[in-house]
Amino acid sequence: MRVLLTAVILAAGAAAAQPSLAADAAAGETKFKQLCATCHGPTGKGDGPASAALNPQPRDLSDAEWQNAVDDAHIRTVIKDGGAAVGLSPIMTAFGHSLNDEDLDNLVAYIRSLDD
Ligand code: HEC
Repeated sequence: MRVLLTAVILAAGAAAAQPSLAADAAAGETKFKQLCATCHGPTGKGDGPASAALNPQPRDLSDAEWQNAVDDAHIRTVIKDGGAAVGLSPIMTAFGHSLNDEDLDNLVAYIRSLDD
């Protein structure tokens, strides 16, 4: 019983620390391919068909250094409110009008899954 209780508490603690774990990365991937891949490439490498014409070009979202440097709130804000909201390029448009909270969480989870 004590072991079970500890496991439950640990699981709850982990979920609180990383809310994006509860989100659906696979659903996020579907949205990403629909809305983001043109610029970011199908797997977020920054090699979408439109990326050659972009300045600045989108970074490689799987880059571990960048992944470690930003928190989930930053990624979420960039997607919801656009690059300009965090001092980045407005070419990264705001998607808050077309994505709900669940979509945003799923996209963050998908981007986190790109960490390599
Ligand atoms: C019109 C092209 C375009 C589309 C579509 C687009 N982005 Fe971007 N995105 C950019 C560009 C350009 C940047 C780089 C901005 C900069 O570095 O100033 C960027 C940056 C980002 C960043 C990195 C922020 C950082 O800290 O460097 C994230 C995360 C991101 N986009 C997520 C998304 C997601 C998720 C979608 C789809 C819902 C999306 N983008 C759609 C062009 C686009």
